[in-house]
Amino acid sequence: MGAVSQQVKSVIESGQLESKSAQEIVRWALETFGNKVALASSFSAEDVAIIDMMVKVNPKARVFTLDTGRLNQETYDVMDKIREKYGVSIEVMFPQREAAEQMVREKGLNLFYHSIENRKLCCGIRKVEPLNRALATVDAWITGLRREQVVTRGSVKKVDVDVDHGSIAKINPLADWTWQQTMDYVKQHGVPYNVLHDQGYPSIGCAPCTRAIKPGEDFRAGRWWWERPEQKECGLHVSKH
Ligand code: ADX
Ligand code: SF4
Repeated sequence: MGAVSQQVKSVIESGQLESKSAQEIVRWALETFGNKVALASSFSAEDVAIIDMMVKVNPKARVFTLDTGRLNQETYDVMDKIREKYGVSIEVMFPQREAAEQMVREKGLNLFYHSIENRKLCCGIRKVEPLNRALATVDAWITGLRREQVVTRGSVKKVDVDVDHGSIAKINPLADWTWQQTMDYVKQHGVPYNVLHDQGYPSIGCAPCTRAIKPGEDFRAGRWWWERPEQKECGLHVSKH
């Protein structure tokens, strides 16, 4: 993992990238960081749209995914479809075996429903630690974060310095896109997408921690639905600062 150079930092701080389109941001990222940039993909509509943009610039662009071991079958299905259509090799990150085994031995497989601490422990072992291992191999990461998703993401920039992860660059090409724009892109470009999106799941995480939302409910209401809204982050994007 390498902190951004002074040169890239000044481009980011100038704010000049913020007026660029999603495709321009993706191109800038791949041309600036080469094989030291990777997309973190949960194979959401946002992420598959970005994969389509990335392979059009560089067919060998890097994609990694955090396979928590608790994903929906539909998520594995779209992963395979993307692999087949684009020929990308997906870097699959698993949790550390001993830590996961110890956790479920001590607290059970469904520990996350019992307390916030247990839920954070599970997210820490199944998502955050593998993310940190993946980020150790890059100077920049791309995500599908959008400002519209939740209030805490309202000020997400298209390109930023990620102080929580060693001051590498964090690139969010769809920061100013709506859900509608995202689905329009996916459908217009024939991008394979998670079928759960058509079954009331706009936001998809692990199977036991995600449910469908009802009409009128908040975009992320189906994630960790038993918790209070301000607690509902798994640690991938939360700032400690
Ligand atoms: S989360 O923090 O609540 O889990 P969310 O599901 O909204 O995140 O996804 C936001 C972005 O985080 C995705 O577009 C993707 O870039 C990244 N992300 C989330 N989950 C994963 C995962 N399992 N593997 C890789 N990247 C992920
Ligand atoms: Fe564990 Fe649920 Fe977090 Fe997935 S979302 S890592 S199952 S607590």
